[in-house]
Amino acid sequence: MSDFPLSAGGARRPLSGSRRALTAGALGVLGVVTALATTLPANAAASTLGAAAAQSGRYFGTAIAAGHMNDSTYVATWDREFNSVTAENEMKWGPIEPSRNSFNWGSADQIVNHAVSKGMKVRGHTLVWHAQLPSWINNNMSASDLRSAMTNHITQVMNHYKGKVYAWDVVNEAFNDGGAVGTLRSSIFTQKLGNGFIEEAFRAARAADPNVKLCYNDYNIDNATAAKTQGVYNMVKDFKARGVPIDCVGLQSHFGNPPSNYQQNIAQFAALGVDVQITELDVGGSGSTQADAYRRVVQACTAVPRCAGITVWGITDKWSWRSGDTPLLFDGNFNKKQAYNSVLDALNAATPNTSPSPSASPSRSPSASPSASPSASPSASPSASPTRSPLPGGCSATIKTINSWGGGFQSEVTVQAGSSAVNGWTVKWTWPSGQSISSLWNGRQSTSGSSVTVTNETYNGSIAAGGSTTFGFTANGNAATPTATCTSP
Ligand code: XIL
Repeated sequence: MSDFPLSAGGARRPLSGSRRALTAGALGVLGVVTALATTLPANAAASTLGAAAAQSGRYFGTAIAAGHMNDSTYVATWDREFNSVTAENEMKWGPIEPSRNSFNWGSADQIVNHAVSKGMKVRGHTLVWHAQLPSWINNNMSASDLRSAMTNHITQVMNHYKGKVYAWDVVNEAFNDGGAVGTLRSSIFTQKLGNGFIEEAFRAARAADPNVKLCYNDYNIDNATAAKTQGVYNMVKDFKARGVPIDCVGLQSHFGNPPSNYQQNIAQFAALGVDVQITELDVGGSGSTQADAYRRVVQACTAVPRCAGITVWGITDKWSWRSGDTPLLFDGNFNKKQAYNSVLDALNAATPNTSPSPSASPSRSPSASPSASPSASPSASPSASPTRSPLPGGCSATIKTINSWGGGFQSEVTVQAGSSAVNGWTVKWTWPSGQSISSLWNGRQSTSGSSVTVTNETYNGSIAAGGSTTFGFTANGNAATPTATCTSP
């Protein structure tokens, strides 16, 4: 589409790879169905999420953090309920290539090897993203140097996981959140390589592995008519028209409620000839409201043949990146929540769909309207020292390092309300030794020298008495957990 001049110069390759991948996918599905047929009478309800999804030819996955794999309940729940996995952080550029061309496979391999030994699918997440980058990717690089670093990264990582990964999020979150249709978020990639970096990345990925599905993944592209969704829709249409390899669109789906046109949105992407995957589902809330929202997500996916599977962004609320929103299917003690039951029932109710057909129902639409869901808020695996500020009445903030690599780290900040509810919050701290934030989510940042101030977004300013919310960031420098203060008006 003319909205999206993403052309890049890379060599063109035939699309035979995606056809081969489809065949492999169909064979995999047949295998699952055969296995199920021997254990389940026709129409029997399956008792786990993975088995229930497999009845209609789909997978049901979860994000896993290697740091929690020493918890036996965590691993047992993963093994019992899920038949696909995404590494929550371990395959991102910073963690996996901390110094140039020197790869740290350890924790990602831990997840992949376990998954492969259990016959699970693996989603690769993610090759090119503006966040969680290593510090050696920086503005001192020339365009050609960045291009060769990107191509090498894509090639090495995809080679390492060849045959084990089912689909790769080749490019993550490249579109502007808000703004005109088709505008990209400004990043080192757009600045140095131009908008064509997305196409370049997809071509490099296809060259590295012709047999894996290549996905574009993003958040806030759940509403069929939102400007951001239209931009991605136009890009996929353009890629398909020009033979740029793309096989799937990932809807992250971090929200509190699916938009009412969510199914229509899945169908409109499918109608372009790509699979749709729900890649990072988590739905803030509780009880029947949450259960109902989850049910509608599953119904929307299972109604569209090319909606290939669903991944939730974690197992238990206690380790969710949005733990304050209790957005997952298991509570902090790994008990099944009401939402779990509604998901299981909806999966069991789906009509069989053993061969996702490319001719999905075209309920087109792009034509501007407000963007839907709020995005999300972070939290995750432990490490480092918690620090707190005074509570009663007001709020406190705790900074935790959840990941680090040469020259960079990621942190999660929990903002907790005291004995009364909080409406709006401000968290402040001072960096001890020259650290600087590279990317921050679920909060608004202002920085002055070493002093950092973060205030709430509109959607996470209200915290119930005793409740909490989280925001997160990646930063350059050595991991640090300075004391943070929290104030509320
Ligand atoms: C999140 C992880 O869950 C956190 O542990 C980490 O601190 C930040 O990243 N979109 C994505 C995911 O594509 O990779 C993000 O995962 C959540 C938003």
